[in-house]
Amino acid sequence: MTVLVLGGAGYIGSHAVDQLIDQQYDVAVVDNLQTGHQGAVHKKARFYQGDIRDKIFMESIFEKESIEGVMHFAANSLVGESMQQPLQYFNNNVYGTQVTLEVMQKFAVKSIVFSSSAATYGEPKEVPIKETADTNPESPYGETKLMMEKILKWCDKAYDMKFVALRYFNVAGAKLDGSIGEDHSPESHLVPLILQTALGQRNELTIFGDDYATPDGTCIRDYVHVVDLVEAHILALEYLKAGNQSTVFNLGSSTGFSVKQMLDTAREVTGREIPATVTARRAGDPSTLIASSEKAKTILNWKPQYTDIKDIIASAWNWHKNSPHGYTDTHN
Ligand code: UFG
Repeated sequence: MTVLVLGGAGYIGSHAVDQLIDQQYDVAVVDNLQTGHQGAVHKKARFYQGDIRDKIFMESIFEKESIEGVMHFAANSLVGESMQQPLQYFNNNVYGTQVTLEVMQKFAVKSIVFSSSAATYGEPKEVPIKETADTNPESPYGETKLMMEKILKWCDKAYDMKFVALRYFNVAGAKLDGSIGEDHSPESHLVPLILQTALGQRNELTIFGDDYATPDGTCIRDYVHVVDLVEAHILALEYLKAGNQSTVFNLGSSTGFSVKQMLDTAREVTGREIPATVTARRAGDPSTLIASSEKAKTILNWKPQYTDIKDIIASAWNWHKNSPHGYTDTHN
């Protein structure tokens, strides 16, 4: 079965390509390399550089490949940037998904696993957050992910196109052998920033606020290992292939860790000091985000393996130590 992975050169997409190939799927990748790295793409995948908004390009891929399912990771994903550049987010994320679905419809491809986000919920009224919670996104980024889910819902009704939308919480970690990992430029995610500080590439970590209503005053997030997260995508693809109905799943570890707990754990794992200072809150950060992932465990039979935060940080550290300058060390 050929799976088309959109955004397969990005952090999560490249781990998905790797695991799909490991599990004997045939994989084609589309990525415009705006934020992705060609060096992150498994050599056994067929790589096509291009933009999902380019319909002629997308049709040429569907003509060449016998695609049976799509995994869609191709999107801009920074909350802060989306507040400054909302139109870029609506164009790339929403319009890009529309073109993808138009081409899927034309070529009668009926299954899509979609990379959604906890940002669709906004500030939660209750934690852990269930899939039935209200969706009130507080950023254009979260809004685009919710709009994309809604487009999928209507395509299911009209064209019987089936989707699974996976709402990620905080994805972290790297493939266990350290060969691929997280490399954003500029970096804004907590775990890589902590580890870059451990490597001496940054002077200190800035903790965004310690006056939240949490036990140590810093924000609590639910960190899920990228390898576990990707496994849920493969289970979702199989779920769709078995003829099941479209639905939405949260993906998290159901446990929360504060910024200070993450920092302390990273100090323990790396054996490095990792200087940190507290500054003002970052605009738009909710105090606590924890997923209920029961639905994915029950329906997809998802069994996350790396729920210990030490394992998540250790795998990320393995990648950062081996590739201190990211993909520039070995590839582009
Ligand atoms: N943080 C710091 N200092 C930093 C960076 C982050 O204290 O230098 C804190 C943040 O304030 C937050 C936590 O660390 O409390 C995690 O921040 P990240 O930027 O790593 O992640 P977010 O929780 O902001 O966002 C992540 C994804 C988004 C997604 C969101 C949904 O990156 O794409 O989860 O929950 F939308």
